[in-house]
Amino acid sequence: MCGIVGYVGHDNAGPILINGLKRLEYRGYDSAGIAVWQTDDDIRVTREIGKVKNLAANVSPEEEDAGTGISHTRWATHGGVTELNAHPHRSWDKQIYLAHNGVIENYETLKSMLLSEGVTFYSETDSEVLANLIAFNLASQRGKVTTKSVQKAIRASLNLVEGTYGLAIMCASVPGTLFGARKGSPLILGVGKHEMMLASDASAIRARTSEVVYLDDNQLVTLTDERFTITTSDDSEVKPEISTLHWRDDEADLAGYEHYMLKEIYEQPSAVENAFRGRLDIEEGTSKFGGLNLTRQQIRQIDRILIVACGTAWHSGLVGEYLIEKYARIPVEVEYASEFRYRNTPMEKNTLVIVISQSGETIDTLEAQREARRKGYHVIGIINNVGSTIARENDGGIFQHSGPEIGVASTKAFTSQLTILSMLALYLGRTRDLSYTDGCEMLDAFKSLPGLVSQTLELAPAIEKIAKKFAHYDDFLFLGRLELFPVALEGALKLKEISYIHAEGYPSAEMKHGPIALISEKCPSLVLAPDDETLRKNLSSIQEVRARKGKVIVVTDSNEVPASLADELVIIPKAHPCIRPILMTIPLQLISYYIAVELGRDVDKPRNLAKSVTVE
Ligand code: F6R
Repeated sequence: MCGIVGYVGHDNAGPILINGLKRLEYRGYDSAGIAVWQTDDDIRVTREIGKVKNLAANVSPEEEDAGTGISHTRWATHGGVTELNAHPHRSWDKQIYLAHNGVIENYETLKSMLLSEGVTFYSETDSEVLANLIAFNLASQRGKVTTKSVQKAIRASLNLVEGTYGLAIMCASVPGTLFGARKGSPLILGVGKHEMMLASDASAIRARTSEVVYLDDNQLVTLTDERFTITTSDDSEVKPEISTLHWRDDEADLAGYEHYMLKEIYEQPSAVENAFRGRLDIEEGTSKFGGLNLTRQQIRQIDRILIVACGTAWHSGLVGEYLIEKYARIPVEVEYASEFRYRNTPMEKNTLVIVISQSGETIDTLEAQREARRKGYHVIGIINNVGSTIARENDGGIFQHSGPEIGVASTKAFTSQLTILSMLALYLGRTRDLSYTDGCEMLDAFKSLPGLVSQTLELAPAIEKIAKKFAHYDDFLFLGRLELFPVALEGALKLKEISYIHAEGYPSAEMKHGPIALISEKCPSLVLAPDDETLRKNLSSIQEVRARKGKVIVVTDSNEVPASLADELVIIPKAHPCIRPILMTIPLQLISYYIAVELGRDVDKPRNLAKSVTVE
């Protein structure tokens, strides 16, 4: 949450920072601001409430002949959404300018100490406390302010801080130099030609350079246009490892779509293909993964799997539970990462832990991974963001290769995760009892998946019409059984997130144990009714809803659902059960999208949300 960008180089910093912030807006959009050097050696700060476009309208970057600057897009934690609380923050003595992503947990203690020393404050934020603390530690040093003395003041201040931070800092007495530091919040260094950048993630840097250094916790980086140094907490210099980004900058563009969410929904044929490309072992009737870092023996010895994730990724874990138990017969449990972290889940010796995260930066998932590794478990990740902290810290994993997901509501990352989990179920199954023939059937299913996803997407115009009819209800139920129960949860989450309509997901048969009380002509249901052994039961659930005047949208791959039973019938292509949850998800994404558009919601930046949740 919150995005930071810093630039030092020969170009005008203003437009580079604004463009970078636009890429990071998914991390928060309560307010935005920049601080840039002016030709007259003065630092100018501009801050605006709301989205980056408001900020862009109020700065005239072309007038600013500034080669150095920092910027921030905020997801409010401490202090309301006001201009004064917006970043970058400035110390009381106008020496330190700082953009912060994270939470300073002991800011009240630090603030009291600074107040008692006569330091003044203008905002309610924890971040201003840090700016003042650094300035205070700088002022306590004798002599001229130099790069070294600023580094010393930053280090001394960070030693006092409890909490998390990704920081971009400028000092008014050291022009042409930026400082960055991280602990618990991501920070990347971009290494360009005669220019350097700092950012919360690579998307803000990609337009300028593809060479990056992923900073680690407790590192402090100092950068000028030509060089950078990284030091650790004991002040020793680190030899940097420069990585190359492999995606193009235009992958993060709208490409003619009205919203990123719609673009990403339509990218799913290639996202699922990227998930299985090179991973199907046709000869052996199984799938293969290069990065699990487990021997065949170790794989065979796994007697339990624990999946840990948050939000949509947690839903994909739940689908994974059904698939792995069905095809590999290994007991699986799925926990919210935030719960796992704070309870002492009993685990078998041979438990494999799987963390799932699109961003690879979700703090709860990261800390859950650290906790599991601390206890000695082998942790593998299903991660989209290759250079992310979770991906760099785990014992092995499977990258999604979905490309950047910008829309705050996750879509293609979810179906890609389902594809990978289904392939993992096949892989684990084939090390146990799953037959070669069954394995080959699943491989055929994966190969057919991109085409089937494309066919399902052709239903979009029909679904748009349904969405228009259903956009004005205040409540919704989503019902599904077995591996489609988590798909129902995901459908409800999508609707809540982007349309602000209250929605709940339930296992279909649970409806009569309580939620049926909600059913009336004012609360429609969306029922997932696959062509399997549960079809008759699902048809009964639909009857029960209809008997109570509830409207019903049925999504099915069966030809046996009488049109008269549903108010709206969406028929998707038939598919092997191992990929059916993926196809069932698509109409749910589309219906949420079109309802949100009909209601005039900000689809890509729904209220109160941020894509990468880096605070607890
Ligand atoms: C919902 C959504 C969130 C994320 C969750 C975990 O559309 O995007 O629920 O799934 O915040 O994020 P990652 O996968 O990045 O760990």
